Amino acid sequence: MKDLKDKTAVITGAASGIGLALTERCIAEGMKVVMADIEAPKLEAEAARLSAAGGDVTAFVCDVSDSEQVEALKQAALAAYGAVHLLVNNAGVASGKTHVNATPGDLDWVIGVNVLGVSYGVAAFARMMIKQGEGHIVNTASEAGLIATPMLGSYHTSKYAVVGLSEGLAMELEGTGVGVSCLCPELINTKIFESARNAPASSGLPAPGDIPISFAEQMMGTTAMDPADAAADVIYAVKANRFWIITHQVTLERMAKRNEDLERGRRPRNPQAH
Ligand SMILES: NC(=O)c1ccc[n+]([C@@H]2O[C@H](COP(=O)([O-])OP(=O)(O)OC[C@H]3O[C@@H](n4cnc5c(N)ncnc54)[C@H](O)[C@@H]3O)[C@@H](O)[C@H]2O)c1
Repeated sequence: MKDLKDKTAVITGAASGIGLALTERCIAEGMKVVMADIEAPKLEAEAARLSAAGGDVTAFVCDVSDSEQVEALKQAALAAYGAVHLLVNNAGVASGKTHVNATPGDLDWVIGVNVLGVSYGVAAFARMMIKQGEGHIVNTASEAGLIATPMLGSYHTSKYAVVGLSEGLAMELEGTGVGVSCLCPELINTKIFESARNAPASSGLPAPGDIPISFAEQMMGTTAMDPADAAADVIYAVKANRFWIITHQVTLERMAKRNEDLERGRRPRNPQAH
């Protein structure tokens, strides 16, 4: 899909961060965008702002961890625009818990949104795109889906799953006209560290305070990227039909070390300590 003009995108997690920046980028490409998110007031406010600025957007409140709501999202997109060409399974959350401190409630939430949410998106939209003979699916994983640390617990579990899902999907869709990309960002300046703002009571997680991105930068020893830059990388990958979207060079360097450890049979090491 080299020319995105007049095509339709469905983007989950579109009310904030990478999803919102990607929505803005798709509008700039001349696309129509169905913005899906669980956080209704923010979603509606952002959709109204973009509409007032001339964007053709439709807001749809959707919990991606509920397959019926994802199916309803597809129906709403088709009703509004008649076809969907780009699906970005981007909604994602982090509990901030290690594996040892996880509870069934926060595990259900993280795996439900990050893994089932992406799987439900693929299940709802892929067959339609194959029939159409044209389309592209972007799944948002993370550097945390390629390299583990001792800090992120179920976030790693979920993002490794998204990488594996995306690799297999790319092979399944070879030759159908439907492309697949896997987005693996390192640190991006978003509200991901305040994910628990949208957690259900069943997760048992407290409401988060305001967490400045500088805290994450310090913790990870890095500089956060602007979401608009990550969005530009995504659009390039869609147009060029590239599978891997690696936003930071450091990810490749850490991968090389991990691969070397694997090949030599060494135990895993915290990449931030080396
Ligand atoms: N920010 C980073 O450093 C970073 C790095 C790697 C990967 N990612 C991934 O990028 C994606 C986007 O996150 P972000 O960083 O923009 O964070 P963000 O918190 O700013 O945006 C995430 C959006 O997803 C929405 N969302 C949460 N649960 C949902 C659900 N059940 N159904 C629908 N929408 C839901 C939120 O309301 C929010 O609008 C996530 O998958 C995240 O894991 C982020």
